Amino acid sequence: MTQSLTVADELEQAAARVDAAVAAVAKLEPAAQTAATELKQAIEAFHKLALTTIVRRLKQDPRGKELLLELVEDPAVYALLVMHGIVRADPLTRARRVLDGARPYMQSHGGDAELVDVRDGVAYVRLHGSCNGCSLSAFTLRKHVEEALLREVPEITRLEVINDQATPAILRTEAQEAPAIEKGWLRGPAVAEVPPGQMVSFATERGSVLIVNLANRLSAYRNACAHQGRPLDGGMLDPDAGTLTCPWHGFCFDVQSGECLTAPQAQLEPFPLRVVDGIIWVRPQ
Ligand code: FES
Repeated sequence: MTQSLTVADELEQAAARVDAAVAAVAKLEPAAQTAATELKQAIEAFHKLALTTIVRRLKQDPRGKELLLELVEDPAVYALLVMHGIVRADPLTRARRVLDGARPYMQSHGGDAELVDVRDGVAYVRLHGSCNGCSLSAFTLRKHVEEALLREVPEITRLEVINDQATPAILRTEAQEAPAIEKGWLRGPAVAEVPPGQMVSFATERGSVLIVNLANRLSAYRNACAHQGRPLDGGMLDPDAGTLTCPWHGFCFDVQSGECLTAPQAQLEPFPLRVVDGIIWVRPQ
């Protein structure tokens, strides 16, 4: 029985076809390579011209503008417009690129940073290795990341470091002060209630929160799929792949970053998380 392809499947297949053609061109004789590249660029220029006209005309009409916004939601349309420079990639994608650019420098100093989300002008970043901690080098690396993000992505005005409290090293029971409830922290389940490879949701006055434990790294997200906002807690967690698949329409998410692997511009909403005396605390927005 043949199964119908999803839009994401079709997009992936189309992208793979382009990649295969580009790889094949790279193996041609230089003269043939030049001709093929010229053909590709000429067709792209032609498409860009027509697409720019379509977008400009749509923007001139209120109904067209609305339609354009709906169209940009489609992953294939969005990818095409970004490719031609007609719309800018969203701040999350641009911030991710900035971080990828800064990664060789961070790694050469024994550190790393992972972008979790960009929301309301704030970039939420999780730090690893020598980027973490209070040393002068950690401060310098953090500054480097922050300056690059603020400079390259004008929508970002602030960087917030997400406390990586859930790594095994931090799942200690040292006496620490419980996070302040008046600052928005809410008490969640005990760490023991969320064993590795499992997830637990709990209700709060700010909506349902999902806690996921992937190899002793805890993450907290709004218990709402980035597709249609339906609860994710009945989904399938694959600890080996590090993914969570929504039970409703099968969108797949990277558990550590919350990034949607099915529709790249979608993202789970992460919450800061702390572990104090074996209790998980979260700060939903
Ligand atoms: S609500 Fe549609 S995939 Fe999750």
